[in-house]
Amino acid sequence: MPRVAMLGIQHLEQCLLIETRSDPHPWGRTNWLRSLRDDHCLGYWRDTDLVAISAYSLVLDEVSLLNIVVDNSSRGNGVGRQLLTEGLEWMQQFGGQRCLLEVRLSNIVARTLYKKLGFAEDGIRKKYYPLGEGHEDAVLMSADLPLI
Ligand SMILES: CC(C)(COP(=O)(O)OP(=O)(O)OC[C@H]1O[C@@H](n2cnc3c(N)ncnc32)[C@H](O)[C@@H]1OP(=O)(O)O)[C@@H](O)C(=O)NCCC(=O)NCCS
Repeated sequence: MPRVAMLGIQHLEQCLLIETRSDPHPWGRTNWLRSLRDDHCLGYWRDTDLVAISAYSLVLDEVSLLNIVVDNSSRGNGVGRQLLTEGLEWMQQFGGQRCLLEVRLSNIVARTLYKKLGFAEDGIRKKYYPLGEGHEDAVLMSADLPLI
C-alpha cells in the first residue's frame, strides 16, 4: 500500500541511494543532511520500499520546492505527481499559500509534471545551473495553493 510520510535523518542513506542512481544532477550528502534537519522532507513508500523523496522550505507563506526525485524503477506511474500534490497539501498546513520552484530548461519531464499540476512558467534565470562545461538556464515556476 503506497503512503506518503515525513523523512528524517534516519533516511539519509536511502535518500542518497535513490538520488545517486536516479538523478543526473544529485544534490549530495551535505544538502540532504541539511534539508532532512532543517526543511520539510517527505517520502513515498511502496510497502516498505522508499521510492521517491522530496524537500520543501517555507518562508512566511511561500513554499519552495527544493528537490523531488523518483527512483528510476518507479517512474511514469504517477508517483511524482502524488508525492508533490501531497507534499504541497502538507505545506499548506504550515501556512503555505504559494509554491515557487526552479527547474532546468532541459528537464522536460519535470516541467511537464509541474505544468500539469497548474504551475505557470514565470521567467528564465540565465546560466543558473552548472552543466558539465558551462551552465544551463533555470525556468522559474509558481502556483497558488491549493493546486487546482
Ligand atoms: C520529474 C520526476 C519527479 C517525475 O516523476 P514521475 O513519477 O516519473 O512522474 P509521474 O509519473 O507522476 O508523471 C506526471 C506527469 O509528468 C509527465 N511525464 C512523466 N514522465 C514523462 C516522460 N517520460 N516524458 C514526458 N512527460 C512525462 C507527464 O505529463 C505525467 O502526467 P501524465 O501521466 O498524466 O501524462 C522524475 O522524472 C524524476 O525523479 N526525475 C529526476 C529528478 C528531477 O529531475 N527532479 C526534478 C527537479 S526540479
